[in-house]
Amino acid sequence: DKEITVTITVVGASGDLAKKKIFPALFALYYEDCFPKHFTIFGYARSNMTDAELRIMVGKTLTCRIDKSENCDQKMKEFLSRCFYHSGQYDSEDNFSKLDEKLKEHEAGRISNRLFYLSIPPNIFIDVVKCASTSASSTSGWTRVIVEKPFGRDLESSSALTKGFKQYLDEDQIFRIDHYLGKELVENLSVLRFSNLVFEPLWSRQYIRNVQLIFSEDFGTEGRGGYFDSYGIIRDIMQNHLLQILALFAMETPVSLDAEDIRNEKVKVLRSMRPLEIENVVVGQYKGHVKGGVSYPAYTDDNTVPKGSLTPTFAAAALFIDNARWDGVPFLMKAGKALHSKRAEIRVQFRHVPGNLYKNTFSVDIDRATNELVIRVQPDEAIYLKINNKVPGLGMRLDRSKLNLHYAAKYSKEIPDAYERLLLDAIEGERRLFIRSDELDAAWKLFTPLLKELEDRKIHPELYPYGSRGPVGAHYLAAKYNVRWGDIN
Ligand code: BG6
Repeated sequence: DKEITVTITVVGASGDLAKKKIFPALFALYYEDCFPKHFTIFGYARSNMTDAELRIMVGKTLTCRIDKSENCDQKMKEFLSRCFYHSGQYDSEDNFSKLDEKLKEHEAGRISNRLFYLSIPPNIFIDVVKCASTSASSTSGWTRVIVEKPFGRDLESSSALTKGFKQYLDEDQIFRIDHYLGKELVENLSVLRFSNLVFEPLWSRQYIRNVQLIFSEDFGTEGRGGYFDSYGIIRDIMQNHLLQILALFAMETPVSLDAEDIRNEKVKVLRSMRPLEIENVVVGQYKGHVKGGVSYPAYTDDNTVPKGSLTPTFAAAALFIDNARWDGVPFLMKAGKALHSKRAEIRVQFRHVPGNLYKNTFSVDIDRATNELVIRVQPDEAIYLKINNKVPGLGMRLDRSKLNLHYAAKYSKEIPDAYERLLLDAIEGERRLFIRSDELDAAWKLFTPLLKELEDRKIHPELYPYGSRGPVGAHYLAAKYNVRWGDIN
């Protein structure tokens, strides 16, 4: 049996994503012994850099998160000795041929498996894919490409991108990352639902009143205004991260855990949804604010943001799935930057208990006394269920209590970063957590008409102060469907 090698080429090696996420995740995988014996990492970018300089740059990004002992230092040294650099243009087949020669040296005649991680702006995706596939793809093993959003700005540009990719690659070579799918609690969604009798039968319009998907960050777009302004929060968070969670949450039971079976069900849910209507959407943008003597900037104060920009930094939306399971159940999404807290969570609000014997004993109105399941994706991962409970004592008084699964208290092991899971899956050829092209199309179909209308009509976002809970419009939107945002209660 011939031995195998894996080489991972990070294209755009000096970029932010590579430094913050990709190299640290690769190191964590190395640390956990997840790589085959023969593996090599290449950084590829335009600037001139030696291998030694790359190692210094990468070294600065690595931390001994899992193990603070000397063993970790040793592991870091070993890992860095497997990292190399190749400088080249993104559209030069010649430069990629040179890379190919170097990869071959490292592969030393073994079976060659090559993964390219495109950590570069989307306008050069196709150039790189073309050069890599024609001049640096493997001839004895597999060649795979990982790409990260933005996958276009709308249905049309996304389809053009897909077409471009498919000129050079088969669908099964393309790994489209949505890093939210690699988060521990998002992966756990399907376990929670499909392997617990207390949840599985409740997962429908019969028992669930509404579902809320909430993403908030307590910082603005500082430094990323240039990218952000041409996309906005709807494209940055809702159309991908939140919609992917929704699809996993709401899909029918897949035939098996096989990637295609799961993705088939996700795409069905997306196709059963109504495209978003502008009446069901609220957009906002943060404005400057002084709090405790500190002054926080407005979105448009960022030098990289055009003055008078109407790009939303906040959006709330009500979505509906027109199928038998979810008919009439509002799925509310809320995503925003520069809000009062950083969190990502899923909230499931259940219906009332019919003819509840204790309805006159609640200290809050009955609407607030229904069960709520909260899946806190981050930070401080947890799953808790709010139940009504008798306050101990001689009288009869109920309160709202939590059955709480708090990850930090229950599990001593560090939760891996999403990129670790996803990189490992790409190396192993596991596609479950990656977006198939028909899913991507279906996602764009839902959002494109809305985005076009917002932009054509130059809809002004509602301003909200930096660090606040966002525009009040979000409450009116929820109230229209008889919903209270669970994170505000
Ligand atoms: C990215 C968005 O996809 O996700 C960023 O482009 C956002 O705007 C980030 O900050 C949030 O990711 P995480 O894992 O830090 O919640």
